[in-house]
Amino acid sequence: MKKKKVMVVFGTRPEAIKMCPLVKELKKNINFETTVCVTGQHKEMLEQVLKVFDVTPEYDLQIMRHDQTLFSITTSILTKLKPILEEVAPDIVLVHGDTSTTFATSLAAFYLGIKVGHVEAGLRTYNIRSPFPEEFNRQAVSIMSDFNFAPTENAKLNLINEGKASQSIFVTGNTAIDALKTTISTSYYHELFDWIGDDRLIMLTAHRRENQGSSMENMFRAIKRVLKEQSDIKVIYPIHKNPQIRKIANEVFQNDDRIKLIEPLEVIDFHNFLNKSYLILTDSGGIQEEAPSLGKPVLVMRDTTERPEGVAAGTLKLVGTNEEIIYQNFIKLLSDDNEYEKMSKASNPYGDGESSKKIVEILERNL
Ligand code: UD1
Ligand code: UDP
Repeated sequence: MKKKKVMVVFGTRPEAIKMCPLVKELKKNINFETTVCVTGQHKEMLEQVLKVFDVTPEYDLQIMRHDQTLFSITTSILTKLKPILEEVAPDIVLVHGDTSTTFATSLAAFYLGIKVGHVEAGLRTYNIRSPFPEEFNRQAVSIMSDFNFAPTENAKLNLINEGKASQSIFVTGNTAIDALKTTISTSYYHELFDWIGDDRLIMLTAHRRENQGSSMENMFRAIKRVLKEQSDIKVIYPIHKNPQIRKIANEVFQNDDRIKLIEPLEVIDFHNFLNKSYLILTDSGGIQEEAPSLGKPVLVMRDTTERPEGVAAGTLKLVGTNEEIIYQNFIKLLSDDNEYEKMSKASNPYGDGESSKKIVEILERNL
């Protein structure tokens, strides 16, 4: 039987973390000829993940610029991907989630009449401006996709309600959990653990485009106030490479010796830091999937979430971007044991870590 050609395309850190387990599963399977193309929307943060998972892409579009815009990302991917898709002529292109890489790649495949398989399909806030531009990207990809790998029943329902054919939707769990299963170790140690000592570790990340500016300043000021009042916490903030974010973080947190602003951590380190943490403050999408499975409370510093399963499980609390509200919620979680207990129960709304295997089986049967 002729092998089916699958091309996996991704470009940012979170896509890489969630697609590498699938790439490994596909490459093991003799029924598929699998190629990987990275757009290079991210550079160092992408390379970190490829190294950890030992994945070497066949193609790299190398599009990242330090001043990149939604325009430059989208147009350069469209232009550079066309000849590669024509050369490889895959039976299907697999994309992930909601980034500009995902949107532009799906559009390129669609223009060339190539099938699109969407991993992590069906997440919605139904607020087209939040997260921006990710909610648009997700909805647009769903219009173009032929295979929809929904992480949960709720995500499937969103797609059904939008009129997607039910035969095109498969509930597989989220490959984020596949990755998490390979990284967490109870014997993990890092030299920063000595700095944390007996204090409670708070992990912080923030990077969303719509939060850059005053919302991000609000978040950081709230955290700074809590740091002043609570002497038994230490904060670690691996800062996204985006220079805009670094500027705000450095301004607000200068001279604070109980917060460490560090370079992005490799995924194995980051997952184990999450596992050691007391609680997490973030506007990240992926961390909202990882935390429930680790039983770590998360204050989600966003106005909307496309991950209602984590909120229903009790692990996530949506606290918005107002300084006073973040401050109040943070203090409460540090001082109220009942509230903390309620939020720190481990659950698995995003699957059992076998999502990549399920996706490959579905492709074997249906492509
Ligand atoms: C992108 C995605 C967002 C995702 C996030 C994950 C879009 C529109 N946004 O946003 O959905 O949540 O990635 O982190 O697709 N940079 C580096 N090195 C790197 C990565 C980034 O220097 O390895 C700097 C560059 O200056 C770059 C800037 O960060 O111009 C912004 O990167 P970009 O991909 O445009 O936006 P993100 O905020 O990372
Ligand atoms: N992550 C990482 N190192 C870090 C911070 C985050 O490996 O220093 C991982 C995290 O575990 C999650 C993913 O990166 O899997 C989330 O990426 P990000 O927050 O950049 O994007 P989002 O998920 O919001 O799209």
